[in-house]
Amino acid sequence: MLARVMRVQVTTAAPAATEADTLVIGVFEGDEVEYPALAALLDSGEAKRASGSLALAHDDGRRWLLAGLGKREDFTHESARVSAAKAAKRATELGGQHLCWVLPDGEGATIAGALVEGTILAAYRFDGYKEKSETDPPPKPLEELTLCAQADVTDAAERGRVAAEAANAARALQDTPANDMTPSDLAARAQQLAAEHETLTVAVEGREEIVARGMGAFAAVAQGSYQEPRLITLRYEPAEGAASGPVLGFVGKAVTFDSGGLSIKPADSMAEMKYDMSGGASVIEAIAAIAELQLPVRVIGVVGATENMPSGRSVRPGDIVKTLKGLTVEINNTDAEGRLVLADCIAYAIAEGAERIVDLATLTGACLVALGHTYAGLLSNDDDWCARVTAAAQATGELTWRLPLHAEYANLVNGGVGDLNNAPAGRLAGASTAAEFLHRFAGDTPWAHLDIAGTAWHLGREYAHTGGSGFGVRLLIELAAASGAAS
Ligand code: BES
Ligand code: MN
Ligand code: ZN
Repeated sequence: MLARVMRVQVTTAAPAATEADTLVIGVFEGDEVEYPALAALLDSGEAKRASGSLALAHDDGRRWLLAGLGKREDFTHESARVSAAKAAKRATELGGQHLCWVLPDGEGATIAGALVEGTILAAYRFDGYKEKSETDPPPKPLEELTLCAQADVTDAAERGRVAAEAANAARALQDTPANDMTPSDLAARAQQLAAEHETLTVAVEGREEIVARGMGAFAAVAQGSYQEPRLITLRYEPAEGAASGPVLGFVGKAVTFDSGGLSIKPADSMAEMKYDMSGGASVIEAIAAIAELQLPVRVIGVVGATENMPSGRSVRPGDIVKTLKGLTVEINNTDAEGRLVLADCIAYAIAEGAERIVDLATLTGACLVALGHTYAGLLSNDDDWCARVTAAAQATGELTWRLPLHAEYANLVNGGVGDLNNAPAGRLAGASTAAEFLHRFAGDTPWAHLDIAGTAWHLGREYAHTGGSGFGVRLLIELAAASGAAS
């Protein structure tokens, strides 16, 4: 099931000269508007300049929305995403299908890109499983967005469009239930995207190859399921000589359903575990977007896709497995499966040439408890690389908060019988011990781990409220863009 696609264009024409059925004008505190119908609404007090307020007027056969933007000095790219999302929802409720935003005076590319993102993200629907009511049909989707701007914001608008569409595509993968989003389905999506871009290639391997490669930790998680696991490797190489900088490695956890395995989860905590493939979904869609934007970087994406199921052939608590890197792991809890999959995928990405790693994973309940849905946990062995990831996160509004690594946490994942254990007793500092486990496989390669257990779904933002959020897609694209530009 694919997300809908919106047309976006930029024009220097006046809003009334566009074809849009709904025109949005933003107003800051202390400012006036030049459109008479909206000025009247402000004068009467029906419209307000406070951030988030929206008022409607009709003029010349079209809808005009006045969007309060609050104080100019408080207005950020994130406020622009939120305002755009509010306007898009209101316009849709009112039957609008072609929206026009006027870029506020004095604003440039950053705000333009954010308005595009907020509009497209807010337009995401996941309604393919519901019967359409004939008496009360759902509102028609937005199809087109026109941005009226005097500044040249075409590139920013296009980047925003591609990034937000990619995030929406990741959301569709996330929201699709596990019976329809198996490891093979995810691999098929990666293959479909690779077929669309000459610069993008994909390799998909199954159970036999994963075992043959020596990825014993990944294979152990997969062995309990009747669904075939998939090791998905995406490579983006722009035209000869176009790329510079280090090879980026994006690694994603894609457990398409996490029952916990034999260390089975209680029913309440199992219900949302179709989202345990969120990291992998973000990696796949972000790399395709990077290819679409032809960014001047090289990227290798590694996605470990599997179910985690209990069965007669499941891995047992106490089993010891050998990883691709050679370290052995005592699996004392089969529900700590994400780190097993990632351990082999990170080692594999490095062996395949990745020089900077970001991994995305819905890894620990501990991270969700610590940071809620607001921040993703960020853990890293390299301050410079960590700063770059943080900068990308701040630019896209996908917030991260650094949590610590420490030798004492690393000690907790040392094994008794094997080299490592996958789930320290006591669960203290769970996000940090999980990251220290991964750290052993990243070694000295600059690596940043994003624990997106809290942010991958039910993000609570106006433009991504419930369900999958596509968290990380825009961040990875931004990171690739900054990395290509910096070198
Ligand atoms: N997928 C879960 C983590 C998770 C929990 C994500 C809640 C989103 C919401 C992961 O595989 C898991 O089960 N982690 C365990 C690890 C523990 C057994 C050491 C956890 O966090 O409880
Ligand atoms: Mn688990
Ligand atoms: Zn999991």
